[in-house]
Amino acid sequence: MSTAPGVLAVVESQLSNFGLTPLRAAHELGFHTVLMSNDPDRYRVVGLAEEVFAKHIDQIIQADTNSADAVAAALEPFHAEGRLRGVMTVTDYNIPVVAEVAARFGLPGLSPEAARTCRDKLLMRRACEAAGVAAPGFHQATTEEDALAAADRFGYPCVVKPMTESASIGVTLCRTPDEVLAAYRDISSSPTDFRGQPRRPGALVEEYLLGFEVSVESVLLDGERRVLGVTDKALGPHPHFVEMGDTFPSMLSAPVREACVDLACRALDAVGHDFGAAHVEVKMTAAGPRIVEVNGRMPGAEITQLIREATGIYLQREVIRLHTGRPADLTATRDAAAASRYLAARESGVLTAIGGADLARRVPGVVDVDLEAHPGDRVRPAESNLDLLGYVVAVGDTTGDAVRRAEAALGQLTPVIDSAVEGVR
Ligand SMILES: Nc1ncnc2c1ncn2[C@@H]1O[C@H](COP(=O)(O)OP(=O)(O)OP(=O)(O)O)[C@@H](O)[C@H]1O
Ligand SMILES: [Mg+2]
Repeated sequence: MSTAPGVLAVVESQLSNFGLTPLRAAHELGFHTVLMSNDPDRYRVVGLAEEVFAKHIDQIIQADTNSADAVAAALEPFHAEGRLRGVMTVTDYNIPVVAEVAARFGLPGLSPEAARTCRDKLLMRRACEAAGVAAPGFHQATTEEDALAAADRFGYPCVVKPMTESASIGVTLCRTPDEVLAAYRDISSSPTDFRGQPRRPGALVEEYLLGFEVSVESVLLDGERRVLGVTDKALGPHPHFVEMGDTFPSMLSAPVREACVDLACRALDAVGHDFGAAHVEVKMTAAGPRIVEVNGRMPGAEITQLIREATGIYLQREVIRLHTGRPADLTATRDAAAASRYLAARESGVLTAIGGADLARRVPGVVDVDLEAHPGDRVRPAESNLDLLGYVVAVGDTTGDAVRRAEAALGQLTPVIDSAVEGVR
């Protein structure tokens, strides 16, 4: 057995600051960190990239990360040396490949079947339906007529969305048949997803869940689902569903939170979730909680940062421990609250500046102000999370304090946009 440090490979990530933090956490734990990507430079645009690439990534391997064979072949030399300790990802696109590779090497991970079910919204809906877990009506439409018929069945407005994207890409509220057709055409005309993987034919048409949204954050530890808490999620304007802010812990009453947690845990059982972190999105409707989506991974956006600020639990580190077969510690050492709020452009054009960051940083309780968009970028009112310009995070003793501070900080940020130029970032 080699005495060189054990290897932890991260196979692709979310295109955000959070996406790079597992590499930092793995490095802090003493691993030789490998970022494996089919395009490693795609991550260099995010705010933390300079720090993480310079300090926390020991090795970059370019490989076809859409193929389990290619990822396994690239990791084989570490395995042969007895150094491969874990393989993980936090992006939905690569969860099945990572689960498959972990299984081949005998490393801890999600079962490949659970990974495939979580990754694909159609399989996830079918698994919940089979288990009697409350969720919206859904239909995989494969023709325009089929999409219109499903919309008629569910009633208007309805939701039309892709089955295997992330970051709310392509998820659309449709109020008329014309809007259903436009959304259906948009989704079904693209044979591959945002990361170049083949898409299922057609689009998912769903009953619209009217209500407010939360996510339930949990980790499966020693066979027990440990719920870290519930996150309140704020959304941007329709017809899109952009994540405009998260708040942890939720400000909802205990019975409402408990109903959401109970449904989320039943959904995780339904999809066969059997390892590590999970992030389950739930809408509270007049008829009770309904599953939006089940993710077999840590929460994205800045939710891990909120959890750390509020509870002291460093989820990235603990999840890496699980992926490398070490005991994880999910003990809360703090009882506070944190909130993030995201900045979006109000109009399309070219960004000339974002004013007010200095003021935002001076708002009491603000711990992070990050501007992801830069002068010269083409911007537009957000259609998916990828269009957001930046964010603030604030902490407080209570959820109310954290929210008021985050909102005060966001209010300082002023994007200046030259709208004479049509913008798409
Ligand atoms: N049937 C529905 N009814 C109401 N809202 C919905 C429905 N489906 C999706 N949404 C909204 O759209 C958002 C994004 O949808 P979904 O979670 O399915 O896609 P996603 O791209 O995986 O999202 P993300 O990666 O941002 O979590 C949800 O968080 C929810 O607010
Ligand atoms: Mg989602």
